[in-house]
Amino acid sequence: MTINDLAINAPRSDYDPYADDNLLDPWAGYREMRDAGPAVWLNKYEMFALARYSCARRALEDWESFPSGKGVMMNDDMNRVLIGNTLCSDGQQHDVLRGVIARPLTAKAVRPLLGEFKAQAESVVDSVMAKGTFDAVSELAQHIPVSIVSNAIGLPEKGRERMMIWAEALFNCIGPVNDRTAQSFPALNEMMEYATNEAVRGKLKPGSWAESILDAVDRGEVPRAACPALMVDYMGPSLDTTISAISNAVWLFAHHPAQWDVIREDPSLIRGAINEVLRYESPIQGFSRYVERDVDMDGVLLPADSRAIVFYGSGNRDERKFADPDRFDVHRGANDQLGFGAGPHACVGMHLARIEMRALLTALASRVHRFEVVEAQRSLHNVLRGFSCLRVKVS
Ligand code: HEM
Repeated sequence: MTINDLAINAPRSDYDPYADDNLLDPWAGYREMRDAGPAVWLNKYEMFALARYSCARRALEDWESFPSGKGVMMNDDMNRVLIGNTLCSDGQQHDVLRGVIARPLTAKAVRPLLGEFKAQAESVVDSVMAKGTFDAVSELAQHIPVSIVSNAIGLPEKGRERMMIWAEALFNCIGPVNDRTAQSFPALNEMMEYATNEAVRGKLKPGSWAESILDAVDRGEVPRAACPALMVDYMGPSLDTTISAISNAVWLFAHHPAQWDVIREDPSLIRGAINEVLRYESPIQGFSRYVERDVDMDGVLLPADSRAIVFYGSGNRDERKFADPDRFDVHRGANDQLGFGAGPHACVGMHLARIEMRALLTALASRVHRFEVVEAQRSLHNVLRGFSCLRVKVS
């Protein structure tokens, strides 16, 4: 009997969240999946969709029923590549790996970076203001992640410029089997080769985050064989996610000028506004979880050995959780939004991402009266929601 046969009482849908049009504009489709039931069987992918906030959160928190150790990607090839890193591990092994990765990323550890972030944010905002019209992705959002964060990670200069290409490929490979996934595998293989052969002692920047993984190996905390996959914990999610988040913020404030006025009048609201940006346009729209044992998801049976896609982006627009969810409101106080995930795998880089965003939004708030979108091209991507180009005019 196949999983398809066992998914007996689940609502079934032919909706394809990974079709081009639906990736570009997912909101109506998300609502359709949420309304169809607590878990929906996607005929095309033979996986469940968890599109409601409460169901997505439950899967993220219940790691014993929904482990990450069998991969969080939607295709087996990719699940094989990353098993054994922090993202794709469980229980005690996950605690150990996360402990190593998290050391430079705790709220306390990243605080000293704030001064540098502020200075860089002010300088980059001054330079784009002088231009008047600029690409908010390449000329604004990429600046801090690429210049400061990639330096802190400390990979060898040779190849560092490929990190953006690799990160994009990595996130595309998280999706189900489709052309985007297949086309991204060569760049992903190149990244794994770099992580194996270049991210090694003598080539890494001394004292860097990446080198601290090797220190942990020398202390016997983690096995040497886990090194390349652990390097990916830094190389993969540290750039594109934050870049998308910053670009999404600019786009949102361009379309909601009254909300921008609120921020400009009271910059102390920026912390809360960051949650609202991540809720409204979540940079990562969905990862998946293996279903370890039969789960009763509010009356729908998820049979053991099936897979469920957890749609953070849809949970964040769930009307069962957020009143008037399609309204962008910096006063909402969306502290429990799912943009950084939830449960044991909640984003370990969130403190860093938050201070990067805060530095930039603060510098923008003191200088920019209005953003006007001149040209916007959304990137067509399996998992990330952001822009390949966002030309804006500022006054
Ligand atoms: C706005 C920016 C960011 C967003 C929206 C984001 C989002 C996420 C999400 C949704 C997860 C949960 C994955 C899951 O449920 O399986 C996650 C995990 C993770 N993130 Fe982030 N992330 C961001 C920035 C960063 C940064 C800057 C870093 C590193 C420097 C980072 C490193 C990680 C790692 C290593 C994990 C895995 C944690 C674990 O499995 O315990 N992220 N992120």
